[in-house]
Formats: sequence, structure tokens, C-alpha cells
Amino acid sequence: MQNMELKAETIRVVGPCDIWSFPLKMKERHPLEYVRQFPHLRCRNNTLGSLLRIRSEATAAIHSFFQDNGYVHIHTPIITSNDCEGAGDLFQIETSNEARESAEKTHFFNVPAFLTVSGQLHLEVMSGAFTHVFTFGPTFRAENSQSRRHLAEFYMVEAELSFTESLQDIMQVMEDLFKTATSTVLSKCPRDVELFHKYMAPAQKVGTDAEEQICDLVENLLSHLLEEISYSEAVEILKRASQTFTFKPEWGCDLQTEHEKYLVKHCGEVPVFVINYPYDLKPFYMRDNEDGPQHTVAAVDLLVPGVGELCGGSLREERLPFLESRLQRLGLTDAYQWYLDLRKFGSVPHGGFGMGFERYLQYILGVDNIKDVIPFPRFSHSCLL
Ligand code: 4AD
Ligand code: MG
Repeated sequence: MQNMELKAETIRVVGPCDIWSFPLKMKERHPLEYVRQFPHLRCRNNTLGSLLRIRSEATAAIHSFFQDNGYVHIHTPIITSNDCEGAGDLFQIETSNEARESAEKTHFFNVPAFLTVSGQLHLEVMSGAFTHVFTFGPTFRAENSQSRRHLAEFYMVEAELSFTESLQDIMQVMEDLFKTATSTVLSKCPRDVELFHKYMAPAQKVGTDAEEQICDLVENLLSHLLEEISYSEAVEILKRASQTFTFKPEWGCDLQTEHEKYLVKHCGEVPVFVINYPYDLKPFYMRDNEDGPQHTVAAVDLLVPGVGELCGGSLREERLPFLESRLQRLGLTDAYQWYLDLRKFGSVPHGGFGMGFERYLQYILGVDNIKDVIPFPRFSHSCLL
């Protein structure tokens, strides 16, 4: 419906555009896959316009949340010599041919360097000086995945909290961050959010008029972060399921997308915290729960409807002997001597988490494909512009 008419007396063409060859038609609601082919033009389409305004507001809201709660913002490096997650999904940095010759075939940095997969270890350094720190920046993973929830370059919000002894403290920050940022986005750009919910995500059961819609959204998104199950319970739930999975659920194996989906559905299509994952599945820095025979670490993932894993976090192993023996078994003692120093020279119980910013936008807007919530998506076999 049009609520305004424009009566022009003169019209001046400032920059001509051949409307016949311009790929975005004014009166057509193009599918997102179609506009994705035009990364240089798609911001002129109203869907991407709305998305980019929401992205901007959400970025500001996340920064405000942390600043208002006493966190110090740290610019963690993009170029790093460590592999925080140990999963090997790294992009290695090399100089171009000419520069390489002049560097006489040595590494530019003397050591192999990579694009960061997480700012966590650098935040842990800083949490020895400031109680609460956060970072929010580009993060890179060379996962050869074309999935609708993976990018090679994405933005991650990460927080690190000193003097934290329980996963519940970390889960509380995840929940508060989510609720505060989402309320701000809903109040600052209701029309932009409405567009997504009306046209892009009709499956989201929300009211039709804008007011009612916003209320329903708040209700749907903000009132539910309550479910909490352990990894072991999750595996039991999956084993009891009547559904057959491509990957058989087994204690000690990673939860697959199909498993995460089932767990969220089982809990009533609400966000679910899954805690205490197998020791052998998780990176070296996670705190040993010293349990058994099913040995776990204090890890937490937040799973949400439609997207799967939104946040991943843990308590960190602050006890020197535990960390030393784990790093030794992994053959990483030399590489992480500096990390051991953080424990040697006065350490406190601490923990933190990371939230994928694009997955956050996907969830609150109901956008199916992660490539549609970032201005210039990078993924395997595609780096346009
Ligand atoms: O679970 P992840 O791997 O956790 C870490 O990197 C921790 N070091 C964070 C921390 O404790 N400071 O990644 C965190 C989140 C995931 O839950 C997911 O939302 C997002 O980052 N993520 C991706 N988003 C888009 N594309 C990818 N390839 C992603 N990989 C992870
Ligand atoms: Mg994870």
C-alpha cells in the first residue's frame, strides 16, 4: 500500500540509469539468491538496505551492552601465530611473489602466520589486567563448507570474564547480551525488522500489524532463553528419538546439525544451552570437570531454532598442572609457553564465549542463508569483489 503521492514540478536526472538493463526491478520482490549475484548493486534493494541498517544498529547495541556493563573493548589482532581452536581451519598468510623473493624465502614474520579464528587467547591475556574484556571483529575459518550457516569471513563477538567459576555466569551474559541487543534493534528499526518478518520469514508466527508484530517478536525471542541440558542428556534424548539420523548419536561424537535441530525441537523450539561436552572433543583451553568415566570439560553451546549453534563458550583451565599436562600430550607445550605463563604468574578462574554475529542476525530476522546477512559474503569458491 502506498501512503504518499509525490507531485513533482520539475524532475532533474542526476545520474542516468538504464532501467532495462539494471538487474534489480523496482516493483519486483526478487529472491535473495538472485540479488546475491550482484554484490555491487544489491545494497540498493530495500531488503539489503534494511539488513544493513539493522546490522549497523546491532553492532552499536552490542558495543553499548559491553561498555555499559564495564567491559573494556580490546582490538585483538587479525594476524596471529596461533590456532586457538586447534581445528586446523586456518588461512595462512603469505606475501605476494615479489615480496616473497625480497624476503629471501623466509617467513615475513619469521614464523607461520594466519588469519585469526578467534580472539579468545588474546582476550585471555587482557583479562589478566582488566576484569571484563570483549572484542568484536572479523574472524576467518577455512571450512570447506557451502552450508547456509558457514562463512569463510564472519564477525564474532567475544567476551572474557575473570573471577568466574560457573558456566551459569557465562550463560547469563550470553542471555543478557542477546536480549539487550535484540530489544535495541527492535526499538530502533521496527520497520526494517518488519520487512524481514513479513516477506522473508513468513514461517515466523508473528502478528500482522507492526505493533503486534514487534510485541510477538519480543515475546518469541526474548522470553525463552531458559532450557539447559547436559551433553550426556542430549545424547540420551537423541538415542531415544524415533527419527533416524544420518549420523548415529553416540557419546563422544560431535553433535551434528541434524542433532542440534532435533534437540531444539524436542525442547519446544526454544533456545537451548548444552553444557559439559566430552573432554576429547574440545580444545585444550577448556576446564577439566574431573568427572568420569565419561570425562567432560566445562563447555557450553547455545543452540537456537533455525540456525543451530549461535554461541560457544567455556570455563578456561586456569590450573597450571592440568594445562601443562594437556598441552604436553598434544605436543603444544613450546607453542603455548606464553599461555602457561598467564597461569604461572597469577591466574584466576575465568571463562568466556563467542557469538557469531551473522548467525545472530539470521536468527532474529529469520533469514535462511547466512550469505544474505553480510554485505560481501566470502565462502569456499566465492570471493566476489
Ligand atoms: O564455537 P566457536 O568455534 O568458539 C570459539 O571460537 C571460541 N574461542 C569463542 C570464545 O570462547 N571466545 O565459535 C563461536 C561462534 C559459533 O558459535 C558460531 O556462532 C560462530 O562463532 N561461527 C561461525 N559463524 C559463521 N561462519 C563460520 N564458519 C563460523 N564458525 C563459527
Ligand atoms: Mg563451537
